[in-house]
Amino acid sequence: MTAPSFGLEGKVALVTGASKGLGRAMALGFAESGADVIVSSRNLDACESVSTEIRAMGRRSLAVACHVGDWDQCAALVSAAVAEFGRIDILVNNAGIAPVPPSIPAITEELFDKTIAVNLKGPVRLTGLVADHMPAGGSIINISSKASERPSPFTIVYAAAKAGLNAVTKATSQEYGPRGIRANAIVCGPFLTDSFEKALPTPEAAAHVAGQSSVGYLAGPGEIVGTALFLASDASRYMTGALLALDGGGS
Ligand SMILES: NC(=O)c1ccc[n+]([C@@H]2O[C@H](COP(=O)([O-])OP(=O)(O)OC[C@H]3O[C@@H](n4cnc5c(N)ncnc54)[C@H](OP(=O)(O)O)[C@@H]3O)[C@@H](O)[C@H]2O)c1
Repeated sequence: MTAPSFGLEGKVALVTGASKGLGRAMALGFAESGADVIVSSRNLDACESVSTEIRAMGRRSLAVACHVGDWDQCAALVSAAVAEFGRIDILVNNAGIAPVPPSIPAITEELFDKTIAVNLKGPVRLTGLVADHMPAGGSIINISSKASERPSPFTIVYAAAKAGLNAVTKATSQEYGPRGIRANAIVCGPFLTDSFEKALPTPEAAAHVAGQSSVGYLAGPGEIVGTALFLASDASRYMTGALLALDGGGS
């Protein structure tokens, strides 16, 4: 028996929210494993800087600005990617926001609509667009959250959006399974990124969260790369529709 490959040589990956945090870590990890990468977020300069790092590894990279909650901008992103690379083998729906409403009656229509647009509408729109240019063997990875399974009043809209993303992951795996395209989600616990630090800004709060995990520490963004590589590569070719927890054993 031949051991399966985790390599991404010759593959093209599109990562949203790749200007920083988990998205940047996955974009760089994919490039290091041989992929060419389209780096996208709303901030073109920040994406260009990640693309420069990728080109320095000898891979091709394209930076494209896109607000994933905007239907037409998603189409423009995929057009630009396909014009440059001809196809997309890996899509990572990573861009996300988690605004905290003070209470249910205080939720504004703007907060509700934007949270759903970025975390749920964008991934559905991009999945439909990208799948038209994804060959058999393609992989769609949705970045979900433990909040989808353990919601709280602070995460109410975000948690609902990510629970929706879990459902979308399973439905996507069914629609595209016959074409040899897989869809899985990484259900993340806490990672030390900008969005986490905004939500829990004190060292005491961070230590409390770390103490709730089995490993006893908070992961840096690099800790998502191994799981993302597994799902992106042929090593996981029999896995689809899965919701993989990546949370340091959080309860
Ligand atoms: N960190 C955690 O503890 C944690 C836990 C569970 C799940 N997650 C999920 O992991 C994913 C990445 O989070 P992170 O912690 O790495 O967050 P982050 O450091 O705040 O990065 C978020 C990324 O999303 C981009 N983004 C935000 N709004 C966007 C929009 N409207 N359109 C396109 N891109 C947008 C940001 O770039 P621009 O500002 O340049 O657009 C940035 O690249 C999210 O889906 C998040 O829900 C994170």
